[in-house]
Amino acid sequence: MVGLQWGDEGKGKIVDILAARHDATVRYNGGANAGHTVSIKGERYALHVVPSGILTPGKHAVIGNGVVVDPESLLKEIDGLRARGVDVSNLVVSDRAHVVLPYHKDEDAIRETILTGVAEDEHTDPGAEKGDRSIGTTRRGIGPAYADKIHRATAIRVGDLLRPEALGPALHSACAMKSRTIPRIPSTPTAPSQEYDPESLLERLSACGERLRPHITDTVYMLHGLLDAGKSLLFEGANATLLDVDHGTFPYVTSSSTTVLGIGPGTGVSERRVGSVVGVMKAYCTRVGAGPFPTELRDATGERIRERGREYGTTTGRPRRTGWLDLVALRYAVMVNSVTTLSIMLLDVLSGFDEIKVCVAYRIDGVETDRFHPDARVLVRAEPVYVTLPGFAQDISAARSYDELPPTAKAYVERIESSVGVPVGIVSVGPNRDQTLFR
Ligand code: GDP
Ligand code: IMO
Ligand code: MG
Repeated sequence: MVGLQWGDEGKGKIVDILAARHDATVRYNGGANAGHTVSIKGERYALHVVPSGILTPGKHAVIGNGVVVDPESLLKEIDGLRARGVDVSNLVVSDRAHVVLPYHKDEDAIRETILTGVAEDEHTDPGAEKGDRSIGTTRRGIGPAYADKIHRATAIRVGDLLRPEALGPALHSACAMKSRTIPRIPSTPTAPSQEYDPESLLERLSACGERLRPHITDTVYMLHGLLDAGKSLLFEGANATLLDVDHGTFPYVTSSSTTVLGIGPGTGVSERRVGSVVGVMKAYCTRVGAGPFPTELRDATGERIRERGREYGTTTGRPRRTGWLDLVALRYAVMVNSVTTLSIMLLDVLSGFDEIKVCVAYRIDGVETDRFHPDARVLVRAEPVYVTLPGFAQDISAARSYDELPPTAKAYVERIESSVGVPVGIVSVGPNRDQTLFR
């Protein structure tokens, strides 16, 4: 299961629906930058690094090696779930997942602060506010943690939390490096006021390691063991295709492989073992943070979508940018992920519009194209070419079968299906489980 746009498509809801039919839910990328919402009987759960399948009793929930884990925030999430009566005994985390440390969060915040107000020239300003090169990250330390993984020498993995004798020296060299390389900006509230202290970090991390010990394992062997026993796995993509570090709107992306292509490296299970790919999409588009967004509506229509869809970030609370559905981007995402079935989410949010626009092509420098450009500096020049479809006045959130939808709502779904060439298996008309229409 993978998000096909810029995140927040409703992946949490779809995982919750699919988890019951699988033996394990597996996260393969990202970290606590994700915010996946599941609504069960009026109870709302926001999952960040714990797989959303944890809410389905008796199933394994696996945090794969491709995830970056902030141990203190993971424990907070575990405690929060436990306090609400959720059984977390089936949660496991890879000993090879990389650890997000406090200095990663400082570095993330400091980089963003420095880049805010640093202008690109007008022609290349890729949709960020003018004079601003920051990415608009979630400031969860995701980029710097992945950077350390690639740098290798100062990286710390979850398995290291269980070995204080190795963790101590590793933290000493990491802190020495970070104290020298992370700049001090007195005006930044997150800036460290002193050198990073390896001893206090060792204490904090060892305590986390002890609490996490029952959950830490070699998830590669575990997942292959499940497959060998004939069990089925549900991979829960975090962030989304257009935020992929290679295939998204670079540089306005996250730092991991968010598409299904990330499953192999992020779990140790080859994509050859993946059967079907559920692509999750909103009936319109949203984006949080900076970067090009060809169909963005910076007007009353965009505001109306934001209010009706309650488009405010699950992780950061930031208002999400909103716009019409972009079929050019969608076809690209379906291609990259080899999507086999689509789930269209939040269709209810579009009710009440007389007309709905969908972007069917771009005009770039006067030339029409149906090709997506996963490069912010090109995509920023794309002007959407729209077709206008009839809207639907009725509130559809009470519909309980696809047949109950008004004809124009069905026509909208079928238009998406035919232009993408992949069947729509699910249409969602509200956050709750019973607001799910199967086709
Ligand atoms: P994720 O990151 O892809 O899991 O998505 P988020 O949880 O960040 O954001 C999706 C939001 O939409 C959540 O608040 C969901 O409860 C909500 N949601 C999911 N499906 C629907 C739907 O069909 N209609 C409406 N109105 N809300 C939905
Ligand atoms: P889910 O899984 C929406 C965005 C951030 C920022 C960029 C980089 O809930 O769909 P990062 O902190 O990852 O370095 O930020 O990516 N971003 C998301 N936007 N949903 C997400 O996750 C996101 N994860 C990252 O807003 O623009
Ligand atoms: Mg989200």
